Amino acid sequence: MSVKNQARLLAFETLLEIIKGKRYANLAVRRALDGSDLSLQEKALVAELTYGTVRNQYKYSRIIAELVRKDVDKLDVELLVLLLMGAHQILNMRVKKYAAVNEMVNVAHKLKLHKFTGILNAVLRRVTPELEVELEAKLDGDDKLAFTFSCPSWILNEYDSSLKHWGRTDELEALLTANNTAPSVEITDLKTRCSRVLTSGNPASDPDIQQGTSIVQDSGSLRVTDRLITARIVDPEGEAWADFCAAPGGKALVLATFLEGNAKSSLTANELHPHRFRLLSDSMKRFKNVTLTNLDAREIPGRDVKFDRILLDAPCSGLGSIRRRQELRNVKTLDEVACLSALQVELFSAAVQSLKPGGLLLYSTCSPLLEETVNVVDAVLRTHTELEKIDEQQLWTHLDGTDSMYYCLLKSTLQQ
Ligand SMILES: C[S@@+](CC[C@H](N)C(=O)[O-])C[C@H]1O[C@@H](n2cnc3c(N)ncnc32)[C@H](O)[C@@H]1O
Repeated sequence: MSVKNQARLLAFETLLEIIKGKRYANLAVRRALDGSDLSLQEKALVAELTYGTVRNQYKYSRIIAELVRKDVDKLDVELLVLLLMGAHQILNMRVKKYAAVNEMVNVAHKLKLHKFTGILNAVLRRVTPELEVELEAKLDGDDKLAFTFSCPSWILNEYDSSLKHWGRTDELEALLTANNTAPSVEITDLKTRCSRVLTSGNPASDPDIQQGTSIVQDSGSLRVTDRLITARIVDPEGEAWADFCAAPGGKALVLATFLEGNAKSSLTANELHPHRFRLLSDSMKRFKNVTLTNLDAREIPGRDVKFDRILLDAPCSGLGSIRRRQELRNVKTLDEVACLSALQVELFSAAVQSLKPGGLLLYSTCSPLLEETVNVVDAVLRTHTELEKIDEQQLWTHLDGTDSMYYCLLKSTLQQ
C-alpha cells in the first residue's frame, strides 16, 4: 500500500472514531498522529482529510443523500465515512476525481470492505463541483446558508437570535465564515496575562510552555478571567476564590497565578468528572494556595464554605468554539442545549448560595446561544433578587477574533 494510502487509512480510522464514537476531533487526530510514523507531509494530509471532512460533513451528507436517494443515516457508517472522505478530496482538495475514487476504493479493499467498492465508484464519480453549485442554487433562505456553510439550520437560527439580541443584524454570514476559518494558536503568559500568537512550530516546543510559565489559550478565555480579577482590588487581608467547574484548568491557572501574589488568598478549584479532575490536579499541583475538590458543584453550598469571588465557567454546548471543535455542529442537538441550560441554572444557583455577602460571581460559557447565556442569567436573577448585574459581554469570533464566549459579572448586594 502506498504511503498516501496509509495516510487515507489513518484518516478513515480517525473519522470513523469521531463520527461513530462522537469523539472530539482534535483529540482523535492528535492520538492518531502521535502514534504514527508517517512523514510530516503525510500527517498533514491526515489532518486535512479529517478536519476538512468533519467541517463539511453536513454539506457532503446532503450531496451524498441526493445521489443515493436516501438519508445518509440509513447508510452503513463505514461506507458513509468513505464517501465523505472521497467528496472532500474531490470538492475541496483539488484531487483529480479518478484518483480520489481509486484511492477510496483501494482503502475499502484494504479494510476488506469489498462490498462497498461498487457503490463508492458509482456515487463518487457523480460528485462534482457543478453538482454542489446546482444543489445550492435550488435552495434559499436558511436552508441555503446551512448548505453553503455546512452548519445545521437550527444552529444558524440560534446564532441569528443571539446576534439580533445584541443588535447585530446582518452579521450571520460573517460569523459563519469566521467559524469555518482555522484559528491561530494563542499563548497566554500566566504572570503578565498577555496573549501572543504562535507564528510557527508546535506549541509543545515553545520554551514558555515547556517551563510552565505560559499556556495555550484562546484570548477570549483570558478576557473572562481578567474581568473577575480586575473587578475590584483584592483585599490585602486575603480573599477566598473558587472556580466551580475548573478542568482542564486554563482559567484556574490564570487565577491561581494571580493569587500567588497575595499570600493570604486562596483558590478552590473544583471539577466533577474524575478523568478531568486528574487533568486539573496535574496542572495545579505546583500551587500552594490551591485546594482541589472533586465534587458536583451543586453540592458545594452543603459544605458551608463561602467565597469572595466565584468563577462559574459552566459546561455548555461549546457552539462558540466550533472553529476549533468542528465536530460540535454535527453532534449537538437542541434537546442537549435545553438540558445544559437547566444544569447551568442549577450550577449558577449553587454558586450564588456559596457567595459571601458583597461577593462577586462571574458566569461564563463558550457559547453565544441565548438559552445558555442571557436566559440563564435572567432565570437566576428572578429567584436571587440579592444579585446585581454589573456587566455582561458577548464576544464574537468575527468581531473579536476570539471564540464566541459570553460572560456576566454579578455582585451580591447583601451587607457584609
Ligand atoms: C467549560 S468546562 C471548564 C473549562 C475550564 N474553566 C478551563 O478554563 O479550563 C466545564 C467543566 O465543568 C465540568 N462539569 C460538568 N458538570 C459539572 C458539575 N455538575 N459540577 C462540577 N463540574 C462540572 C465539566 O466536566 C467541565 O470540565
